[in-house]
Amino acid sequence: MIDTKATEQTRARYQRIAPLYDVMEILAERRYSAWRPRLWSLVQGPEVLEVGVGTGKNMPYYPDGADITAVDLTPGMLERAKKRAAELKATVNLQLGDAQTLEFPDASFDDVVATFVFCSVPDPALGLTELARVVKPNGRLLLLEHMRSTNPLIGALMDMLNPVVVRMVGANINRRTVENVGHSGWQLEQVEDMGMDGIFKMIVARRNADP
Ligand SMILES: C[S@@+](CC[C@H](N)C(=O)[O-])C[C@H]1O[C@@H](n2cnc3c(N)ncnc32)[C@H](O)[C@@H]1O
Repeated sequence: MIDTKATEQTRARYQRIAPLYDVMEILAERRYSAWRPRLWSLVQGPEVLEVGVGTGKNMPYYPDGADITAVDLTPGMLERAKKRAAELKATVNLQLGDAQTLEFPDASFDDVVATFVFCSVPDPALGLTELARVVKPNGRLLLLEHMRSTNPLIGALMDMLNPVVVRMVGANINRRTVENVGHSGWQLEQVEDMGMDGIFKMIVARRNADP
């Protein structure tokens, strides 16, 4: 069941930081901008769903010819994504939407993509299970995410700091996203360590036969 209070809080936090989001991310984006095209080069489509599109930072990497639908929980983030889509002349159907309860029929998409989103989805297992519902049989999930470090000391520090970080920017820093994917209707196919003691990972998974 959806935790509506936590979901409202997440939306309110991102609504608050939406005008500053791109500036806040300038340093991190130096790293992410090398990873985004790699992730999108794996997307086959043609029907693709991007979840948590944010301000639209993945748009430059959308594959030619793909039919892309992109959703976000937060109106302020989506407004910025719409501006970016217009500037880039990107063909994308942008909608408000919650990963935990999507308004798409079962088996609508070939691939589902999200970058740096499952740190803030209030119930990540519910969201990942919902993505397995809307993807076609044999469809794929492609993620770039930060998560709890595999280094025990750093992981414990991340657990301690998590409540403060969530309050400030709406993102959990200690999620166990690889495990969450594996327990939420997906078969892990590729987990690539992108650095920083296992904090950043690229994950590719395929929908279980019976999610
Ligand atoms: C850290 S930002 C990442 C934005 C973008 N994907 C990127 O790579 O820059 C997280 C985004 O996820 C969105 N989000 C959080 N929870 C969500 C949910 N349950 N459903 C859809 N979007 C969600 C937030 O509104 C925000 O735009």
